[in-house]
Amino acid sequence: MQKTADVGYSIAVLSWDQETYMPEKGAEFRAQQISTLSGVFHKMITDDTLGKWLEELSKDNSLNEKQKKNVELTKETYDKQKKFTTEFVELMSKTVSECFQAWQSAKEKNDFSIYQPKLEKLVELKKQECEILGYKDHPYDAQLNEYEKGATAKDLEKLFVDVRKELVPFVQKIKQAKQVEDSFFYKTYDKDKQWSFGLDLLKQMGYDFDAGRQDRSSHPFTTSFNPLDVRVTTRVSENDISEMIWSCIHEGGHGLYEQGLPAEEYGLPLSEAISLGIHESQSRLWENNVGRSLAYWKKNFPIVQFYFPDQLKDVKAEDFYKAMNKVEPSLIRTSADELTYHFHVMIRFEIEKALFEGTIKVADLPAYWNAKYKEYLGVDVPSDTKGVLQDIHWSHGSFGYFPTYSIGSFYAAQFFDKAKKENPSLTTEIEKGEMKNLLKWLREKVHIHGRFYTASELCEKITGEKLNFAYFMNYAKEKYGEIYEL
Ligand code: CO
Repeated sequence: MQKTADVGYSIAVLSWDQETYMPEKGAEFRAQQISTLSGVFHKMITDDTLGKWLEELSKDNSLNEKQKKNVELTKETYDKQKKFTTEFVELMSKTVSECFQAWQSAKEKNDFSIYQPKLEKLVELKKQECEILGYKDHPYDAQLNEYEKGATAKDLEKLFVDVRKELVPFVQKIKQAKQVEDSFFYKTYDKDKQWSFGLDLLKQMGYDFDAGRQDRSSHPFTTSFNPLDVRVTTRVSENDISEMIWSCIHEGGHGLYEQGLPAEEYGLPLSEAISLGIHESQSRLWENNVGRSLAYWKKNFPIVQFYFPDQLKDVKAEDFYKAMNKVEPSLIRTSADELTYHFHVMIRFEIEKALFEGTIKVADLPAYWNAKYKEYLGVDVPSDTKGVLQDIHWSHGSFGYFPTYSIGSFYAAQFFDKAKKENPSLTTEIEKGEMKNLLKWLREKVHIHGRFYTASELCEKITGEKLNFAYFMNYAKEKYGEIYEL
């Protein structure tokens, strides 16, 4: 399994390089290199000898609990990979790369018709994939399960009913309140100084620079080659300091999770993250619950002011805190505030579910999208580039991915509530920039377990109950009630 992991993580290194330092002309051969290694990986993970060993090991009663879990989860992966023929894997990979290219050009030219035929092909293939993978109630469940094991359309629907019922009227109330001022975010901020400030924030969180580094990329991401080498990236915009701050703290949260996974389990499931939802809970906890709190800026505002004395001379810590929590319905998901963000996810969830049950067709997407944005966010979509073409996910064949963003935020609120209850001085510690205890808590409760527990088992183990949207809503009401004087 370690040898298989060696190949898998080598692909990760090549992909990281592709997004950060690779010169443009290297793209074609890089794609070939990654595709070759993916083939090697698939061959290794579906090797018949491995299958035989796993069969034997799953009957071996001398294994301890952790070893049993490693065998059980590896066997799951093996059985799943075995369901796919090489022809199917290759066809999928080819279709995805065509679809991705069509999406790029469609987005650039604001022309959905370039994308439509390729996406139709990909959706058809994805529907076949659902049948190959298998599902109980809804074909879309097979897609969801790839990112959030055990998640179903039915459960998510229930969750989003709560979101609609509670969050929609709450945002309406905020819309009628006096808007907060955030124009100082958009002055000119020297990129190198921003970079230094971002590194300060990462160090303060406890990100280990001897086991990781930060680089620039056009879309911030985190990747890991093993827990002792975890890379984060960020983007820096000269005319919006908030962008660097958020991506730094967010990816830092992902990075801390990866650095906290047990290195001694390298190559085995217990060295891996549970699910995208739990991964996102770690990034959102740092980004929102910590990074968008007043306590956090009591410590860090003087630091950012030190870097940018002119730009921020008339600004107070409290103004900075309010600005970063400005709520305003908008067109673009990635720059949405932490409340209206979930409307963006809800729209994508409804569309994906409808696509997989066949109630809408790819051709209907732009009109359907625009109607939903009007309904949930009250905004008119001026172009498909700023509408249905904005996200990369579908062109990659990633259906069922979006809901994990919301699930992650809701887990984060529930975990953070528990962390505060177990450590009543947490807020005071954050005010002083002392993150040691919080990180230790996350390490012990979440990181060191790898995939030993499922997401919902872990949530129950930590908080005593299953995922409960009420924690997010209470957090939102308390914070935004104060900011907007509701
Ligand atoms: Co994330």
